[in-house]
Amino acid sequence: MAVVSSAHSAIFSKTSLFHHINGFKRFSSCLPFSSSAAASLSSKKKWRQPVASSVLELGGIKIAKDDVVRDDPTNNVPDTIFSKLGMQLHRRNDHPIGILKNGIYEYFDTNYPTKFDKFDDLCPIVSVKQNFDDVLVPADHVSRSYNDTYYVDSQTVLRCHTSAHQAELLRRGHTHFLVTGDVYRRDSIDSTHYPVFHQMEGVRVFTPDIWEGSGLDPTSYAAEDLKKSLEGLARHLFGAVEMRWIDAYFPFTNPSYELEIYFKEKWMEVLGCGVMEQEILKSNGRLDSVAWAFGLGLERLAMVLFDIPDIRLFWTTDERFTSQFSEGQMGVKFKPFSKYPPCYKDMSFWINESFTENNLCEVIRGIAGDLVEEVSLIDNFTNKKGMTSHCYRIAYRSMERSLTDEEINNLQWNVREQVQKKLNVVLR
Ligand code: DAH
Repeated sequence: MAVVSSAHSAIFSKTSLFHHINGFKRFSSCLPFSSSAAASLSSKKKWRQPVASSVLELGGIKIAKDDVVRDDPTNNVPDTIFSKLGMQLHRRNDHPIGILKNGIYEYFDTNYPTKFDKFDDLCPIVSVKQNFDDVLVPADHVSRSYNDTYYVDSQTVLRCHTSAHQAELLRRGHTHFLVTGDVYRRDSIDSTHYPVFHQMEGVRVFTPDIWEGSGLDPTSYAAEDLKKSLEGLARHLFGAVEMRWIDAYFPFTNPSYELEIYFKEKWMEVLGCGVMEQEILKSNGRLDSVAWAFGLGLERLAMVLFDIPDIRLFWTTDERFTSQFSEGQMGVKFKPFSKYPPCYKDMSFWINESFTENNLCEVIRGIAGDLVEEVSLIDNFTNKKGMTSHCYRIAYRSMERSLTDEEINNLQWNVREQVQKKLNVVLR
């Protein structure tokens, strides 16, 4: 199926430019909900909207809702995203995401006993510096835009990749590590895209004594080791599959590659990787070393390994889903419970200059939540006056039950109202 070939992979492989200018005040990341943090927050009360109190525990740190969701122009985190912050699917040993994480751990533990340090509870609220600057994402890179990333304030984001932790862990002296975590991206809506998903990052550092005597230059040594290790990982997960390496671009690696496997009659991207840019090592206390790094999306792989047809299923608490998986059972095939009928609703409007599909999808998700399965542009034209009209088809479908006409009509009514109001478009 086409499900897994897109899904959250492209953003850093693009060099495209996008300018977003915003200069508001700094807000420290991942605030512990301690008295000092509370005190520093209170000075910002002026521009914070009162919100229902709600506090999450995350890796021993408490995060209050108004640390993350605020009525401020530099903040674009909706309530629906805050509610995902504490879920930590990757830390549940009987959830497909946790089972896959453990399966990957098993590969590294078997092949490099006691070598890799594992982190799965690092706070997803990070600074712009950690998320972008530290891994050399250019100042005008599209991923930095408010359209693509959730900003808590102008200097703080919900990490959009686990690479955000590379620099800090190198600085702390780690030379072999795996970081698993939830990552956040504003995106369109379909069966493979969800604004929260999970990644695993891997890094291995080599000191000169390791490559000296190999006859290879350090970069080639690291690249060879990288390819060998990741081919082994792909075989561990998928069995004896055909693989190919594709040259790629990432700001943080050079050379950069993507690994693809031939699975179910098509080539599928498994991960992005490369030899870490020397500048990252140099800035983080590793002047004499080389390193490789990789990043993989857990949902993308879990969807294929467990036959999970829709990315929303990972979030369901329906027992008919959760009871099908258990600890250590890699690749058990999901048996769909009855599929409920979709209902399609179209809406057309004249767009304005600031219209983006990600903003539209956010409004729709804010109202329909996981009842929206797909939003697709089905018509697009510009009239003689230069006005552009878009028609979107919204597919509503519950994973768990049949929806009534009344319920869908109410949702659609609300969507029309809010889209008009929040996006300033003119309904047709
Ligand atoms: N951070 C990349 C992404 O989210 C994935 C990635 C690619 C991570 C290459 C790496 C790497 O460490 O070397 O798209």
